[in-house]
Amino acid sequence: QWIVDISVDNLVSNSHIVEAAHELVSQQVVAFPTETVYGLGGNATSDLAIERIFEAKGRPADNPLIVHIAERAQLKDCVKEIPPLADKLMSAFWPGPLTIVFKHNGNLSKRVTAGLSTVAVRMPDHPIALALIKAAGIPLAAPSANRSGRPSPTLASHVNEDLKGKIKGIIDGGATGLGLESTVVACTEDKVTILRPGGITKEDLEAVCGHVFYDFALKKEDEAPTSPGMKYVHYAPHAPLTLVEGTDAFLHKTAEAAYEKGLRVGLLVTYDYQFATKVHKKVVMGSRDDLTTIAHNLYEALRTFAEGEVDVIFSEVFPEHGLGRAIMNRLKKAAGGRMVTESDN
Ligand code: TXA
Ligand code: MG
Repeated sequence: QWIVDISVDNLVSNSHIVEAAHELVSQQVVAFPTETVYGLGGNATSDLAIERIFEAKGRPADNPLIVHIAERAQLKDCVKEIPPLADKLMSAFWPGPLTIVFKHNGNLSKRVTAGLSTVAVRMPDHPIALALIKAAGIPLAAPSANRSGRPSPTLASHVNEDLKGKIKGIIDGGATGLGLESTVVACTEDKVTILRPGGITKEDLEAVCGHVFYDFALKKEDEAPTSPGMKYVHYAPHAPLTLVEGTDAFLHKTAEAAYEKGLRVGLLVTYDYQFATKVHKKVVMGSRDDLTTIAHNLYEALRTFAEGEVDVIFSEVFPEHGLGRAIMNRLKKAAGGRMVTESDN
């Protein structure tokens, strides 16, 4: 009988990790799993590596990247100062799906921060991600490893679908855990502001540091966003998505009306809303009372509709508290704002 130790220390010397780390040091880009979604990693101090990330993703240059570190000591490579509130948040949520925006110290590639005076940093809670960052010995800039505008990848096959031939390699760590990206917060002053809702909820944050605010841009979508990434088309499936707010009966009436017009209808629903019959394809994400599973399955569900398979997609909506806030943020972006409400009809 043998026993293999797959502790993080061991992973750091794993030959695949060592090879990937070598590529990263050599300014190549490599996709790797985190607890949220797959990231496309590059040396955060190298202009060439960052250029390669933007190129592979087709990402607009004014959308800055998140820098990933494996231990707190690496903060000194990136940030100018650590506000006391940020210290509290790091102690409570790192490693984990919380990204904190700091003033940067000028050591990273300017392309990482898109010319801003701030840098977004997080410590992922995934043994492969942590081992890779440690083995490379540098902070890694890593946006989600999807083609810009597509749903974020929660499987290595999603990364391959979007970036095949455009990157050096992919470390396949199976399905990611959470399935939605990290929460992004700013805490440069004496308050914490959520710039992007994610795995760590407002309620989680408030348990640690009192009242937490949502960025103005999250409430008024037409205002200039503070988090540059929030203004672009995101997470789009292959057919136009419309969110349907109301009862299951209303969702089915809406879907059926499109079906009767001769459209091929896709439905994105939970077990509780799945009873419509006149649809071409139905994707069930879980049950309404289990938002953790919905979050885990959402991007895979959006990707399940193949190109040209349906003409329209209708989705159920979720209450906007707890994890529902992040789920609805992604669904609204995926729908590009298209929503019909039962009370309007
Ligand atoms: O869970 C995650 O955060 C994943 C995994 C791979 O770690 N990464 C991720 O990266 O979602 P990306 O590039 O897809 O999203 C980064 C978000 C964008 O909304 C961007 O605008 C924001 O973070 N961001 C980055 N730097 C910022 C800064 N200095 N100030 C405000 N927002 C910033
Ligand atoms: Mg992204």
